[in-house]
Amino acid sequence: MEQRFAGKVAVVTGAASGIGAGIARRLLDEGAKIAVVDIDGDALRAIYGDDPDTYAVTCDVSSCDQVTDAILDIVGHFGRIDVLMNNAGINTKSITDEYSMLKCTPEAFRRVFEVNTFGAFYVGQAVARQMVEQGAGVIVNTCSNAAIKTFPNGGGYGPSKAALTKMTMIWAKELAPFGVRVNGYAPGTTKTRFTEMIWSDEEAHASYVESIPAKRLGEPEDMAAIACFLASDDASFIVGEVFGIDGGQHL
Ligand SMILES: NC(=O)c1ccc[n+]([C@@H]2O[C@H](COP(=O)([O-])OP(=O)(O)OC[C@H]3O[C@@H](n4cnc5c(N)ncnc54)[C@H](O)[C@@H]3O)[C@@H](O)[C@H]2O)c1
Repeated sequence: MEQRFAGKVAVVTGAASGIGAGIARRLLDEGAKIAVVDIDGDALRAIYGDDPDTYAVTCDVSSCDQVTDAILDIVGHFGRIDVLMNNAGINTKSITDEYSMLKCTPEAFRRVFEVNTFGAFYVGQAVARQMVEQGAGVIVNTCSNAAIKTFPNGGGYGPSKAALTKMTMIWAKELAPFGVRVNGYAPGTTKTRFTEMIWSDEEAHASYVESIPAKRLGEPEDMAAIACFLASDDASFIVGEVFGIDGGQHL
């Protein structure tokens, strides 16, 4: 495999499962040293163990204080951050069964924003400050096609990712003069714990596959490929884009 990240340090949030774990694997395969960040420290330890190229940090990204400490800790350990994969996120379904517009509770609606929007902002800001000091860096936000396509009964999920999509563009424009490149990508339904209620149910799975032009769900490896492309020098002239990667599901 190409070694596009040899000598680079990357941070991956939400690295203990699904897309984040797929991105972390690909970064390691391409030569990076990585800080893996997640609220689930046990899962981080189970996946990454004593791998000398990884540094595991338990952190709830919705806590600004925890994020500040985590990024300081990572910079203390590796000395710099070249790439941020700003990926941790939750859906409303992981908090409550009441996620229609009529039934979603304020707490559930707020919690999704706290993680997906505020959490991404806290991590993005803390890392961007470090990158501006270095004079270089790349940020890749995990957005969602739910920001564009209207999936009913999603509670705050689509709106939280719509905000992140716009934040991606704003950060890109603000940070480019400092040598920091920002982009995002918008996964469609991808086979992870996040969508277990879909792929573990034969009927629901078939109906999703039928509605996706590519006739399959996404895999974490599909997302890792685009995230690592965007973080690499191959994408050096791409600024402020949010790439759809959903097999045509948004159409
Ligand atoms: N799977 C999909 O269909 C899909 C589609 C579009 C976008 N996404 C986005 O992809 C990203 C990754 O999702 P996934 O599918 O891999 O889900 P996942 O549940 O498999 O992984 C999410 C990871 O984020 C961590 N996490 C959750 N809350 C956190 C917090 N407060 N602080 C730190 N870590 C936290 C979890 O512990 C978990 O390890 C999310 O941002 C999600 O919105 C997923």
